[in-house]
Amino acid sequence: MRQFDTVISWQEFRSTLSGRIGFVPTMGCLHAGHAALLARSLEECDRTILSIFVNPAQFNDPKDLERYPRTLEADLALARELGVDAVLLPAPAMLYPDSYTYRVQETLFSSQLCGASRPGHFTGVLTVVMKLLNLVQPSRAYFGEKDHQQLELIRGMAAAFFMNVEIVGCATVRDADGLALSSRNRLLDSRGREAALGLANALRSAGSDADAAQQMTEAGLAVDYVETHAGRRYAAVSVPTATGSVRLVDNLELP
Ligand code: PAF
Repeated sequence: MRQFDTVISWQEFRSTLSGRIGFVPTMGCLHAGHAALLARSLEECDRTILSIFVNPAQFNDPKDLERYPRTLEADLALARELGVDAVLLPAPAMLYPDSYTYRVQETLFSSQLCGASRPGHFTGVLTVVMKLLNLVQPSRAYFGEKDHQQLELIRGMAAAFFMNVEIVGCATVRDADGLALSSRNRLLDSRGREAALGLANALRSAGSDADAAQQMTEAGLAVDYVETHAGRRYAAVSVPTATGSVRLVDNLELP
């Protein structure tokens, strides 16, 4: 498995690749959800490229960026085991030679749901995804449905800018009890893990947004929002733990 941390070395390698290229952009701390994206790309494409980059531009809270879990050696071992062809491991200076003075901004949906409480978050996401897609030039790029608002915004960006890539959404992978897999789950202590289950449970069983929010509150979660958009119920909560709160999101298509 090849690893790249400069634009020049990556572009040289990229120019040798042909066939269908699949791409899975991540912030590392890989779990079975990421493995499912990689497995789908490996199945559908001739080459699979992974990127691991904790993108400072999408964190509106510096403490959240500092706390974000990082497990590089385990991530590389998993990628190797799955048969990933190459991994991009950029440093911020590689992806932001412009010091983030150029940005991709969506002006409607990005300020709702998660965007309402995380100003600038989706501009950071769209900008880095545009940069990565331009560098990797994949035929297909794979994203999880757990971050459904992100997936919709990336799809919209690819369409708006006539980008030559297919954005593929993949079903959320869950633990046996229903909790959606997330790198942030690693930050939960045992009480937090138990409370976090209230997010998926309420999404599954509640008859309305208000009912879901109440069930989440009763489970000990601080509700950021529960809102239904286009037949899908979205929610974000803060889970209290002994070392601070952990923000989790989830969503479910309504029957
Ligand atoms: O979903 C993520 O892990 C990130 O938001 C992404 C798409 C890799 C951009 O940094």
